[in-house]
Amino acid sequence: MNYLAIVGTNSEVSTNRMLLQFMQRHFQAQAQLELYEIRDLPAFYEADDDQVPQEVTSLSDKIRQADGVIIATPEYDHAIPAVLKSALEWISYTSQALTDKPVLIVGASHGALGSSRAQAHLRQILDSPELAARLMPSSEFLLGKSQAAFNSSGQLIDEHKLAELDEIFREFVLFTEMITKLLSERTIIKKDKKYAWQTREA
Ligand SMILES: Cc1cc2nc3c(=O)[nH]c(=O)nc-3n(C[C@H](O)[C@H](O)[C@H](O)COP(=O)(O)O)c2cc1C
Repeated sequence: MNYLAIVGTNSEVSTNRMLLQFMQRHFQAQAQLELYEIRDLPAFYEADDDQVPQEVTSLSDKIRQADGVIIATPEYDHAIPAVLKSALEWISYTSQALTDKPVLIVGASHGALGSSRAQAHLRQILDSPELAARLMPSSEFLLGKSQAAFNSSGQLIDEHKLAELDEIFREFVLFTEMITKLLSERTIIKKDKKYAWQTREA
């Protein structure tokens, strides 16, 4: 499996990035994780088709080529960081490359709750018609107290958390296979959903 692992922050130091870096090493026998940094994307604006920034086109290509996407989100004010929302707005407005893409959400926070509200927020956003990702159901990987969660080698310390992550990742690989099979056997071609929100509001 090839997964694109999106770091949901532009912070220089990030425990969400550390989590994805750990996953990249820890699951290397099962899957290849390419880490993607959203910090180089411009803040979203409504660009004409021929003026979409190259960084956005490149992100869309990476999403299209991946078997699935993993997003690690911090929690800012009970929501996802604005830079992550902006990156998703680019995808929604341009390529819609996340449509039908298997997605796993994980998250780390310095407090005890492990970004639970941000993850719920992200789930709602990814379920919108222009994003329409295939979200892995019934799974939350919440890494609380994340500043103390890794040792100096970047290894996740808590054995129970590690076992939880192992199980979620194993299920995500199976989920990716199931979604791929489901889509290959789909008989109805979905209509172009671009700008479905305009239709709904009309
Ligand atoms: C502007 C701002 C708002 C925050 N709001 C919350 C919050 O609502 N809930 C929470 O648990 N942590 C909150 N935090 C702390 C974050 O959990 C923590 O900084 C971040 O999630 C850790 O991710 P990182 O290590 O990848 O940067 C906030 C931090 C910032 C900078």
